[in-house]
Amino acid sequence: MAVTSDKPVAVITGGARGIGRAAAVALARRGFDLALADRLLDDLASAVAELGALGAEVLQLPGSVADYEGVQEHGRAVMERFGRVDVLVNNAGMPQPKTLVEITEREYDETIAVNLKGCFAWCKAVAPAMLERKRGRIINISSVSATMGAGPNAVSRFAYVTAKAGILGLTRGLSKELAPHVTVNAICPGAIRTTLTSALFEQRREQLLASIPLGRVGEPEDIAEVIAFLATVTPNFITGEVIDVDGGQYVN
Ligand SMILES: NC(=O)c1ccc[n+]([C@@H]2O[C@H](COP(=O)([O-])OP(=O)(O)OC[C@H]3O[C@@H](n4cnc5c(N)ncnc54)[C@H](O)[C@@H]3O)[C@@H](O)[C@H]2O)c1
Repeated sequence: MAVTSDKPVAVITGGARGIGRAAAVALARRGFDLALADRLLDDLASAVAELGALGAEVLQLPGSVADYEGVQEHGRAVMERFGRVDVLVNNAGMPQPKTLVEITEREYDETIAVNLKGCFAWCKAVAPAMLERKRGRIINISSVSATMGAGPNAVSRFAYVTAKAGILGLTRGLSKELAPHVTVNAICPGAIRTTLTSALFEQRREQLLASIPLGRVGEPEDIAEVIAFLATVTPNFITGEVIDVDGGQYVN
């Protein structure tokens, strides 16, 4: 039985830590209830405690975004619990440091399945309900590497770049298909300090800082605030857009 509430609801994939967790906090502060999809059970539990203290109802969705049927099941669970989805943040992602020469077919397929097909799976799971309600916002987390590529010092290489570039195509394609009531935008983070990146950033600190005009690496909150903007700006005349949030590292 769905909880009947006037509060808006956001689904965030990869919401247990890093950028996704910061986005959950930013949206909880703006009055959202949340459904967090992640495979890190301990981090999910601690996110529920943190968000509960901010007044948010939180539904935990343990599992992988690469499991298509599991994601459809999670979509139904969200509708049963909350009866609505206002915002979908496709944030879950995995790094892929292997080069073309090193990578196996299985590793390539997994990289695409998690980073790109997971976005498709979640759009399939919630967009029909958004279209029916004539209301919804989808926010996809890509990467500046989708445009710039990734060199030998990057956390991830070409397979990750391929998936992240695919997210920009998915964003642009769906923005036309789901208009006028559902908007679809993407954010491309630059160098953001999270569990994924902090060790590498420490190794390359001076070189990295010299390449960022705003003089610091990003924090998860830098991305979370832009997610919150896209989730809540009213009136909203933005769709099919890609926003780089990178301290000016890549101006294009
Ligand atoms: N940190 C950066 O510098 C940076 C730069 C560009 C893009 N990004 C993107 O931002 C997003 C968030 O990254 P982050 O830096 O916060 O990383 P993170 O590793 O701290 O968080 C990623 C979250 O996604 C979850 N996740 C990974 N694979 C999953 C799967 N198959 N199913 C469900 N959940 C899964 C993880 O468990 C984790 O909670 C990713 O898509 C990443 O590619 C990050």
